Amino acid sequence: MPESRPLASEWLANGAVLLRGFAVELGEALLAHIGSISEVAPFRYLLMPNGQTMSIAMTNCGTVGWVRTASGYGYASNDPLTGHAWPPMPDVFRELAVQAARRAGFEGFMPAVCIINRYAAGASLHMHRDRDDTKDGQPVVSVSLGLPAIFRFGGQGRAGSVRQLRLVHGDTVIWGGPSRMAYHGVLPLEAGQHPLTGMQRFNLTFRSAKMPGRQSGAQRRPRATAGRSAELR
Ligand code: SIN
Ligand code: FE2
Repeated sequence: MPESRPLASEWLANGAVLLRGFAVELGEALLAHIGSISEVAPFRYLLMPNGQTMSIAMTNCGTVGWVRTASGYGYASNDPLTGHAWPPMPDVFRELAVQAARRAGFEGFMPAVCIINRYAAGASLHMHRDRDDTKDGQPVVSVSLGLPAIFRFGGQGRAGSVRQLRLVHGDTVIWGGPSRMAYHGVLPLEAGQHPLTGMQRFNLTFRSAKMPGRQSGAQRRPRATAGRSAELR
């Protein structure tokens, strides 16, 4: 595992760290799994509440998946496209997320879901918080694969200062504890060519998907956004 290598890490805030290249040695294996997962649970463009289609394509693996529902977004244990359970999370995914979380100081992280995002040129994600999951301080682990992207990492409020970080293949960002509800987003992807992913970027987002006091699949309606980007979660 990447643990044995010295790593450049950059603390972004209390509870938030960027581990440069943490997943780089696993890149090909992760991408192969993304390919198999998407054969069972195809990438799809979710509709936003404002009726527009998101610019990133998504699928999931794990015990639940992140889906669009009648009243917003939430977790569901079956893929609404196929009616079947989401593909199980590959061990290499889980192990990577657990190790990354540990490196960031979060022992005992157990991801239930891996949301897989696919970006083509121009695709972006508005500033948002990953609000639904948890109040137990468990982190989000976010792995970048393929083309570079500009990741924006802000504070607890929309008004605060925002760091802009260029994330490349293998870079892994973890935010939890006091940073768990930090705003973050991705600028429109610049066109390019990556030896492993061609004209695409993939992102793996691992979450514990624990929702105290709520069932999996509980709903919340996010704020609608205009344009080709989305306030996703
Ligand atoms: C997300 O916030 O869900 C994805 C972030 C990324 O693609 O880097
Ligand atoms: Fe997010």
